[in-house]
Amino acid sequence: MALPDSQLYAALIDALPDPILVVTGFEPGDLTGRRYILANTAARELLRINADEGLLLSAVRDPVVLETVDKALFDETDAEGAYETSGAQSKSLKVRGRFLGFGRDGARLALLTLHDETEVRRVERTRVDFLANASHELRTPLASLSGFIETLRGHARDDATARDRFLGIMQAQADRMARLIADLTSLSRIELDEHIPPRGVVDLGLVVGEVVEAAAPLGAQRRVKLEWKSCGKDTHPVLVRGERDQIVQVAQNLIDNAIKYSPDGAAVRIEMQSGLTDLGAAASPEGTPRLSLVAPDPSSETYAVLRVADQGPGIARQNLPRLSERFYRVDGQKSGARSGTGLGLAIVKHIMNRHRGGLVVASAEGEGSTFTAYFPLAGVPESKA
Ligand SMILES: Nc1ncnc2c1ncn2[C@@H]1O[C@H](COP(=O)(O)OP(=O)(O)OP(=O)(O)O)[C@@H](O)[C@H]1O
Ligand SMILES: [Mg+2]
Repeated sequence: MALPDSQLYAALIDALPDPILVVTGFEPGDLTGRRYILANTAARELLRINADEGLLLSAVRDPVVLETVDKALFDETDAEGAYETSGAQSKSLKVRGRFLGFGRDGARLALLTLHDETEVRRVERTRVDFLANASHELRTPLASLSGFIETLRGHARDDATARDRFLGIMQAQADRMARLIADLTSLSRIELDEHIPPRGVVDLGLVVGEVVEAAAPLGAQRRVKLEWKSCGKDTHPVLVRGERDQIVQVAQNLIDNAIKYSPDGAAVRIEMQSGLTDLGAAASPEGTPRLSLVAPDPSSETYAVLRVADQGPGIARQNLPRLSERFYRVDGQKSGARSGTGLGLAIVKHIMNRHRGGLVVASAEGEGSTFTAYFPLAGVPESKA
């Protein structure tokens, strides 16, 4: 049955996603006389009020809102302001007031709309932090380059030994900047595509095998043994849904970290396993604190895992949640041979998100670290070709 117009309008206002109130008032400055005579569902939920009419002060007390109401009611102009709600889950809200006219009782009427901008503010803050961090990371090698250029032009001008040494350092700093820019570009590209599921099918064993092979020289240089074990690698391929280059990046970053943070003579164990359903049990070793940095998609029930275990210094429990933040590095690992940009695990996290996979870290100080990446198995294997 068709709704009469009046009911249709009421239903429409109630269904609007933004909170809306109609406020009335007779006298400027008479705050206690302000009433709301309509509040849609969104407004009632936000302001935690039950009735759709009542005293305005019983619904909102924020001075910005009250000022906006009065401007709209008595200056008859559009007014707006911004305020934050208090409490544990504080929200950033934008408030707008607009004069509507006069009611039957001669009261002035204004429309008050509230718009939740919490998410926008959060994204803005992240962007500002990100830019600040990125510039800071670039400034350090840049300052060092400038310093050496000055030295080479000055007192080291005719000193061949010093010149060679300084040029070596300058090369390393320039390489570092290039790596940082490459990582930043890669990260923003991955984030941009994060909502588009990968379409390819990848043989995980093959890819990991290649990455292990490519990492061998670094392992040898750091005197770290790489032990690569894959259950079923030689018998049948383990096919996962994904994009090859990105899966390479995941394996590379995890293996690179394991080597980088291992002491001389230690071993890094790289394993692959297929057909896992119980994710908790898969993240060995037993009893070590563990944390899920990316929670796997509950709808895809079988996974292949890549597990990289090292005998390095391990990571204290309180640092585990921050590992995949951009630029985060555990204190004390910020310089020397172990230096990095702190972007590796952020990249891994976004790739695993995109792959609807999971990432679990198990680690304790002095007991090494184990990173486990879960990839959803490709449902229908494509032809081997
Ligand atoms: N296997 C590991 N053992 C101990 N600490 C680790 C390990 N992997 C990561 N970490 C810690 O987590 C931090 C972040 O790792 P991430 O890979 O994101 O950055 P990075 O290795 O410092 O730099 P990048 O990978 O960008 O060159 C590292 O700085 C290190 O403190
Ligand atoms: Mg790294």
